[in-house]
Amino acid sequence: MLLISVIVDCVSKSYSSGLFSKRYDKILSDISLEITKRKTVGLIGPSGVGKTTLAKIIMGLENPTSGKILIDGTDIWNAPSEERDTSLKKIKMVFQDSQGSLNPKKTIKQSLYDTVNLMGLDASTRESLVLELLDRVGLSSDIFCRYPHQISGGQNQRVALARILLVKPEYVILDEPTSALDIAVQAQILELLNNLQKENNFGYLLISHNIPLIDFMSDEIVVLDKGSIIFRGETKEFTEFNSLKNKNSFKV
Ligand SMILES: Nc1ncnc2c1ncn2[C@@H]1O[C@H](COP(=O)(O)OP(=O)(O)OP(=O)(O)O)[C@@H](O)[C@H]1O
Ligand SMILES: [Mg+2]
Repeated sequence: MLLISVIVDCVSKSYSSGLFSKRYDKILSDISLEITKRKTVGLIGPSGVGKTTLAKIIMGLENPTSGKILIDGTDIWNAPSEERDTSLKKIKMVFQDSQGSLNPKKTIKQSLYDTVNLMGLDASTRESLVLELLDRVGLSSDIFCRYPHQISGGQNQRVALARILLVKPEYVILDEPTSALDIAVQAQILELLNNLQKENNFGYLLISHNIPLIDFMSDEIVVLDKGSIIFRGETKEFTEFNSLKNKNSFKV
């Protein structure tokens, strides 16, 4: 275990099965993994297995029923609020539905400026910073005046990445970052993600259903099934596990 990492330590999560029900459905059971800088952990598993729920618990958006999330040593669910907030600034997420994560009533420019305005920069520095980051993610200011529904899935993903670059986190959770994109755009986004990781030393948690994508991008792979980890290991070990599992009709 490293102190400079995100540690998911034995996390479980249950939801009440109905408004007046005393029954609980266990979604996640004793999940442990570690996200380290410059490396990618691929998280894979069937739909509804709890991947996004785990991501939200790591981001401090959902509380775990038991277990801990340590961000660089800080137990975010038990730390004083100031320490928790400082730790949570180190991690950002590109949500499964990037279009939905942008405010539909704001133009792309307004959404980007909401983040830059908090940084206490003068107007011309703000503008050049935003333009530089748009350029870095392969967009131009042509999209500034458009609303999220007026740009493509790939452009939405790029805007989400530009917003992340503005706040310079240490760790990034990518929840199905390419699922809505065609093959050519997928390849561009993956190359961009790889380059951004090298430049910024990001530690990635990459969530996907797509086995070849997880295989290509990850240093370590974690497979969830029925709420539990059924495989955790290096990518080369996963290839063997997957071929064995395929014989037993493993599907994600
Ligand atoms: N707030 C909630 N209350 C009750 N159940 C929930 C809640 N949020 C998620 N769930 C349930 O938890 C399970 C896991 O959902 P989650 O979104 O984490 O799955 P996922 O693995 O990300 O699926 P997908 O691959 O389709 O995105 C689902 O059965 C979902 O219905
Ligand atoms: Mg999900």
